[in-house]
Amino acid sequence: MITEITQACDLVIFGTKGDLARRKLLPALYKLEKFKKIHPDTRIIGAGRADWTKEEYIKIVKIAIKKFLKEDIDNNVWNKLSLRLHFFNIDVYKDLYFIKLKKILDQTKNTIIYYCAVPPSAFNAIFKGLGKIGLNLFPSRIIIEKPLGTCLKTCKEINDQISKYFLESQIFRIDHYLGKESILNLFSLRFANLLFFNNWNNQIIDHIQITVSEEVGIENRWNYFDEMGQTRDMVQNHLLQILTIITMDQPKDISSENIRNEKIKILRALKTIDIENINNQTVRGQYISGNINGKKVPAYLEENGANPKSQTETFVCIKVELKSDKWFNVPFYLRTGKRLAHKYSEIVIVFKNMPINLFKKHNNNLSQNKLIIRLEPNESIKIDFLKKISGLNEIYELTNNRIESNSSIKKTHNQIDAYERLLLESMKGVQSLFVCREETEEAWKWIDPIIDAWKKTKKNSLQLYAAGTWGPKNSDKIIRKDGRNWHKFD
Ligand code: BG6
Repeated sequence: MITEITQACDLVIFGTKGDLARRKLLPALYKLEKFKKIHPDTRIIGAGRADWTKEEYIKIVKIAIKKFLKEDIDNNVWNKLSLRLHFFNIDVYKDLYFIKLKKILDQTKNTIIYYCAVPPSAFNAIFKGLGKIGLNLFPSRIIIEKPLGTCLKTCKEINDQISKYFLESQIFRIDHYLGKESILNLFSLRFANLLFFNNWNNQIIDHIQITVSEEVGIENRWNYFDEMGQTRDMVQNHLLQILTIITMDQPKDISSENIRNEKIKILRALKTIDIENINNQTVRGQYISGNINGKKVPAYLEENGANPKSQTETFVCIKVELKSDKWFNVPFYLRTGKRLAHKYSEIVIVFKNMPINLFKKHNNNLSQNKLIIRLEPNESIKIDFLKKISGLNEIYELTNNRIESNSSIKKTHNQIDAYERLLLESMKGVQSLFVCREETEEAWKWIDPIIDAWKKTKKNSLQLYAAGTWGPKNSDKIIRKDGRNWHKFD
């Protein structure tokens, strides 16, 4: 039985031999098969440069799924999935192969979806190859994933290249954070609860903190990472997406178009950070060796393939402001880094102080209410508030109290992972969890001056931090000089 209808598709995975396909896409397809989400007539066509037979490919897929799936393979599920698998040997730089591909795709019955799980340098060859022989025509869809450029100019180049052959409604740009359960839950939290909805503005909110802390280093991706740095790799996409979802106005409805329009308004409202304010609003750091979970890990400059003179940041902290009435005077403190003390992502909404303290006699300062949204791990929502100390002591003596949602999603085998959801949405043809052209370009418009300013100012030099700590000591400076503190990890 199919529990939710997806269309019958021919899903072509370019780069099926690569890391993304093996680690994420193939295990995700297995899970979708397990949840009976894939249409019976859907086929999965792995495309790559290899002389594999279909049987060899099936064996290779099974090895990858076994390795990267976090559960044992169920033979019934695997048998069903393996019947969908096909392999197509392709050199994306030669037209002849696309002509052959056209012969095996079923454009009459199935919607064709192309997943470009290849480095961006190969994107254009695929767009052109498909375009030249009409494999690009609506209703086919194409999925691409970051890095979408390293600056506005290179991002525009990719967007221009793809839009020569595909309409925006056919293009699915992945930011895998948008497929995460906890990120999706932000929409329901904000727009299904009047309690939060009505208190979501600068009258009530003092400031917002967004932390995405990683334990991993650069995982043998020196060349990629050194060109990107944490700002391009994480802030341009994932952190800005979180920021837009947390601050956007309520869309007219939950259509892709209206959600995206609201997000774009926020990206356009980001106040520029450039040479004028770079030192006051940013700190960047790079890890030296240290201990993570009791294990010594090398410095960034000692990673495989490292250039020992690299000035690339592996940590960044930015104070962000918005040109918006609703968010006037509300700073957003963003921080993210590799090789930090713990892996966790969290949004902390800190509310303003009470205008009048009725309880002054016993409580000089009333601590601020906080809404703490833990995105990962162990998703949860906590509210910090004040209550009376119980008992026969002074009746107006208060103490801090916390309520925590018991709805935190337990890690089970049935939990949906970001790639499963995004693949499913692409099979349904729904674009709301994908990033549109304007979002990618607006984000770069804001990032470019920051990176430029770092190059121009000597003052904002890279701060070193030991792996396994919370980043450079100076990153506290940005929030402390505003009289605020980072909410502690607990
Ligand atoms: C990727 C970045 O987009 O996201 C990686 O390229 C990063 O450098 C990863 O480690 C983090 O994703 P997650 O889902 O583990 O938070």
